[in-house]
Amino acid sequence: MTTPEPTNLVYDVAHDLQTPLTALKAQLSLITKTRRTDEIKACHEIIDSMSSMVSDLLAYARSGTGFETVNQKEFDLSARIIEALDYVETVAHSCRVKITSDIHPRIIVNGVPGKIDEAFLNLVSNSMKYLTTSGPREISISLIKTGKSCCLSVADTGIGIPHDELEHVFTRFYRTRPATQHASGSGLGLAITKKIVELHGGTIAIESAEGIGTRVEIKFPVVQS
Ligand SMILES: Nc1ncnc2c1ncn2[C@@H]1O[C@H](COP(=O)(O)OP(=O)(O)OP(=O)(O)O)[C@@H](O)[C@H]1O
Ligand SMILES: [Mg+2]
Repeated sequence: MTTPEPTNLVYDVAHDLQTPLTALKAQLSLITKTRRTDEIKACHEIIDSMSSMVSDLLAYARSGTGFETVNQKEFDLSARIIEALDYVETVAHSCRVKITSDIHPRIIVNGVPGKIDEAFLNLVSNSMKYLTTSGPREISISLIKTGKSCCLSVADTGIGIPHDELEHVFTRFYRTRPATQHASGSGLGLAITKKIVELHGGTIAIESAEGIGTRVEIKFPVVQS
């Protein structure tokens, strides 16, 4: 008998957990139709939070797969980011977040477009999640070409990351002290993003000041025309 790879094991366990969670949620919805109590509402919230963790685990296990040469192609990253920005701006508008963007045109990279979308949206989703309700609510997104590489940057005016915790944020399941008090999460989004970026031959860096904001920069090699 062979021992399963850790990533496969995570995938199998997360996948198998999804079915009972969905069934539990459905049963609870039936009960809610006849009785509505705070306890039932609390159960719904617990299930939703577990479901979101299971989805994050599945995303983590999947992040290393699908990079076969057959799925890779040269594509216009600028056009892809502009398309994603449409969606981001709609969500931002409903959350009262100001988005500014500076996307240089026709930056061509080689990779799996769907995975790069996922990495980008993970960064934007963090920026949205870690904004405060009372402070400035701004996210700046840029994509610029710098010689043989390009730099995709997502910066926000959110809660920031304490200096002594910055080096840990790409570690699976790590969440900073301020983040834990601020919003829920699994601590997997940045680990997934880093894995995707590295599989594309890129690098990722983060800088932050607590109470001021955070900037994440991804650098990818560009296809020379
Ligand atoms: N823009 C940001 N502002 C402040 N803290 C951040 C930001 N991005 C990441 N962090 C910190 O890094 C940690 C890891 O981020 P990551 O995206 O991996 O996990 P998460 O957001 O907690 O959960 P999820 O798996 O749902 O994305 C976060 O918990 C938070 O502490
Ligand atoms: Mg996250």
